[in-house]
Amino acid sequence: MTALTLSTAGAATLRADAVVVGIAKGAKGPVIAPGAEAVDTAFEGKLASVLDTLGASGAEGEATKLPSPAGLKAPLVLAVGLGAAPEKDGTYGAEALRRAAGTAARALTGAKKAAFALPIASPEDASAIAEGALLGAYAFTAYQGGGDTKGSGKGPLAEVALLGTKPRDKAFKAAAERALALTEEINRARDLINTPPNDLTPEAFAAVASAAGKEHGIKVQILDEKALVKGGFGGIVGVGQGSANPPRLVKLTYTHDKDAKHLALVGKGITYDSGGISLKPAGHNETMKCDMSGAAAVFAAVVAAARLGLPVNVTGWLALAENMPSGSATRPGDVLRMYSGKTVEVLNTDAEGRLVLADALWKASEEKPDAIVDVATLTGAMVLALGNRTFGVMANDDAFRTAVHETAEQVGEQSWPMPLPAELRKGMDSPTADIANMGERMGGGLVAGLFLQEFVGEGITWAHLDIAGPAFHEGAPYGYTPKGGTGSSVRTLVRLAERLGEDDLG
Ligand code: BES
Ligand code: MN
Ligand code: ZN
Repeated sequence: MTALTLSTAGAATLRADAVVVGIAKGAKGPVIAPGAEAVDTAFEGKLASVLDTLGASGAEGEATKLPSPAGLKAPLVLAVGLGAAPEKDGTYGAEALRRAAGTAARALTGAKKAAFALPIASPEDASAIAEGALLGAYAFTAYQGGGDTKGSGKGPLAEVALLGTKPRDKAFKAAAERALALTEEINRARDLINTPPNDLTPEAFAAVASAAGKEHGIKVQILDEKALVKGGFGGIVGVGQGSANPPRLVKLTYTHDKDAKHLALVGKGITYDSGGISLKPAGHNETMKCDMSGAAAVFAAVVAAARLGLPVNVTGWLALAENMPSGSATRPGDVLRMYSGKTVEVLNTDAEGRLVLADALWKASEEKPDAIVDVATLTGAMVLALGNRTFGVMANDDAFRTAVHETAEQVGEQSWPMPLPAELRKGMDSPTADIANMGERMGGGLVAGLFLQEFVGEGITWAHLDIAGPAFHEGAPYGYTPKGGTGSSVRTLVRLAERLGEDDLG
């Protein structure tokens, strides 16, 4: 895990393997961002022109390494692009800082210590840079290097020192602590997502939650397959019954104060989605270990909320099952009696996420929380609609949907509001049961949302995040986003909990 320190030291004087400076796109080549003055001085004021000569422009994603001139303690200067230079108040946006810091941390893989001399105008900027660096430094190496966990390659950047921050200033300290807790939990979610499904079974996931609960004062209750059958959780049981690895429903309870607001989070935790009897074809199942990303995000958010002592009560529900075909698997045509009492005709066993979520949503509703947010890699249709970096937000309340979308924007996560058109409900009419688990193909992401809505308790404010696009990144790493599990939506969920606790949801 990468360490984080605050430092008032100057960029020239701190002992480190590298000093990171920011550059932005100017009209005539790169411009040096604030924070890098001492480094520029060591270059006799010519840092911008040297970088220009090397072809650096200041564009986002750019990382240029230079040997240090005399006068700098660090032997290496790394210039990272911040994108367009700010127009108005001269400060850079938090997301530009977060991404640049992530790019820098990736470029410095193998280094022990890096001094970040990026522009910091506020504790929020320090937070963003810390988040980007700690998320960018992430690497999943548990399965490499001949069985030991050290791996054979270079380890991640070991220490991030934020220059231009005051270690004794309360606001800066809080910003650093928040960034550290948040990113450690996001990276923990990434680890869970990246862990191969032969090791991360529902039972194994529940054990990880149990251990983390003990460590952070979170109550953890686990329903095993017997308890699920006995409790009437027909959705979770129906999805899990084809697998040799039985399902679990995990409840995490973080209690701040009995009078505080209550947020319930529900996560889709399909540890592997083969499609079941409606088997996915080759080409569609290689990354389906990521189908528990919603549960991983919920888990990470509850732990982060507890570690940060947020002024809100948060309950997390992890609906864990493995969707496999076998002689005991649910068939297309089977009818399941759900926890709510409704019956569902399973027309396609690959539409399994909504089945496990339906039970968890109804269970979560029984406690009458102030709001429920579910998170799921639910539909390929949402990926078609919004692409690989944006999650869809649906809700039974326009104001809440807007609040969730704006909250995501605040923390630098891309999302977009999506409707729940009532006319799509009739496509799920079943001749046999109360509802079918599939409807019209067109608008498939919204159809799934409409299905879930039927399992939200009367009068409860609810939002649904379909993170099928951004949960798992298959392309080249960029900014603070690595290959594989991303930890999508954790920052949004934590900020949302914070805002609900502070009665700041507009
Ligand atoms: N886990 C998938 C959705 C998914 C697709 C996640 C791509 C991440 C990337 C989900 O369980 C699924 O299979 N959905 C089906 C639903 C359909 C059968 C109604 C889909 O989207 O095709
Ligand atoms: Mn599926
Ligand atoms: Zn799935």
